[in-house]
Amino acid sequence: MQRDIHNELQRRAQRVLPRGVYGHESTLLLPDSYPQFFSKAEGAYLWDADGNKYLDFMCAYGPNLLGYGDPRVNQAAIDQLHRGDTMPGPSPLMVELAEDMVGMVQHADWAMFCKNGTDATTMAKTIARAQTGKRVILVATGAYHGAMPWCTPMPAGVLPEDRSYIRQYDYNSVESLEAAVAAAGDDLAGIFAAPFKHDAFIDQAEPDPAYAQRARDLCNDTGAMLIVDDVRAGFRLTRDCSWELIGVRPDLSTWGKSFANGHPISALLGSDRARDGAAAIYATGSFWFAAVPMAAARATLQILRETDYLEKSVRLGTYLRAGLDTAASDAGFSFRQTGPVQMPLFLFDDDPDFRIGFAWSEAMLRRGIYVHPWHNMFLCDAMTETDMDLTIDAARDAFLEVRGQLSTLQPHALLAEMFQQRAAE
Ligand SMILES: Cc1ncc(COP(=O)(O)O)c(C=O)c1O
Repeated sequence: MQRDIHNELQRRAQRVLPRGVYGHESTLLLPDSYPQFFSKAEGAYLWDADGNKYLDFMCAYGPNLLGYGDPRVNQAAIDQLHRGDTMPGPSPLMVELAEDMVGMVQHADWAMFCKNGTDATTMAKTIARAQTGKRVILVATGAYHGAMPWCTPMPAGVLPEDRSYIRQYDYNSVESLEAAVAAAGDDLAGIFAAPFKHDAFIDQAEPDPAYAQRARDLCNDTGAMLIVDDVRAGFRLTRDCSWELIGVRPDLSTWGKSFANGHPISALLGSDRARDGAAAIYATGSFWFAAVPMAAARATLQILRETDYLEKSVRLGTYLRAGLDTAASDAGFSFRQTGPVQMPLFLFDDDPDFRIGFAWSEAMLRRGIYVHPWHNMFLCDAMTETDMDLTIDAARDAFLEVRGQLSTLQPHALLAEMFQQRAAE
C-alpha cells in the first residue's frame, strides 16, 4: 500500500501539531499501518492522503449517517451558504430546526444548538445544576461524555477539583446506582446515562430497562435531572431519543455527530422540567448560531423521517453480522460482535492485549475495509449489500491470514503501555 505522502505528512505533523494529531482521531492507538490523513470521502468510501480507497465502517466516528457528501444535504447547505451563515443572530432556521427536533423527540419541549457533543453534555451538566441548585452529577464508570476536564478520559491537566462533584456508578446496576444516589444525599443534580453501554475496549451491552426505569424514578424522587447522552447513537436506533425504545423519557438528551450528516452542529434537548435551568445559564459560542449546519440538519432530519435509512441499516447490519460469524467460526475464531447491528463492535476471545484484533483489522485494511479494533463502528445509508459481501469476503481471507500468524503476533507498544498505566491507577 502506497504510504509516501502519509509518511511525509506525519513527519511534518510531529513538528507543528501536538503528538502529531491529538484526541480520538489520532491513530497513535491504532495499528501502525492505519492512515492518519484522508483526502476524500464519498458515499460509504474514504480515500487516504496517498489515494488508497477504503469502505469505511467508522463513518467519521459517527457523523456520516446517510453517506459522505449526501447531495440532498449538501445542496441545502450550499443554498444557505449563499444566503448567510454566521451573522449577528440566528436565521429563521434555528426556530424551524428546534421545531423539527421537538417534533421528533418525544421527551423534548425545547432545543439548544451548539457545535460538538461535548458542548451539549457540558451544558446538560450545567443546566442540571442550575435547575436543581444541587451539585452532584453521576456518570457511569467508563462512559465517554466528551473532552472537557469534568469528563475527559485523560487525566493530564485535570484537577481533582474539576471533578469533585462528579461521581461514578456501574451502568446497568440498580444496586450501584441506588448506592451512588444515596451517597449524594440531598445534593444530587443529575444522572447521565448512555443509551446503551458503548465504552471502548469492552463488549457493548443493551440497557437493562429495570436500571433505566430506576434512574427515572430516582430522579423523580430527588428532583434530579435524567440525562441520556445520545451524541453517538442518536437517530441510529430510532427516530426519537434512544431510550424511547425502552419506555424511559429523560429530562435532557444530548445530540451531535450525525443529525446534520457531518455538518458541524450538536444539540441539547430538554423537557419543561429542565426549562428554567436552561433559560438561566449563559451558553453561547461564535459559531453556535451558524445557519449552514442548521440547513444541513433540517435536510437530514427530513430524510430520516421520509426514508427507510434505519430499517435498511438494521437489515444490512444483520446480514453482515451473520456473514462475519460464519467466516470467523470457519477459521476457528471465537469472534464477539456486540451492540446494535448498525453500530457493531468486533472483539476476539483470548485476546487480552488486542494483538489478534489489531492484526485482523490491519488485514482488513489491506483488503480495502476500514474497521476499528476497539471502538464501536457505524453503518451508513450509502452502504449496499454488495459492500457487505465485500466485507465478509475480506474478513474470511483476513481470518485465515491471521490464523497463520498467531504465533508471531506482538502487542501494540503504546496500547500495552496504556493498559499498564490504567492497571497501576
Ligand atoms: C456518547 C458521546 N458523548 C459525547 C461525545 C463528545 O462529542 P464530541 O466529540 O462531538 O465533542 C461523544 C463523542 O464521541 C460521544 O460518543
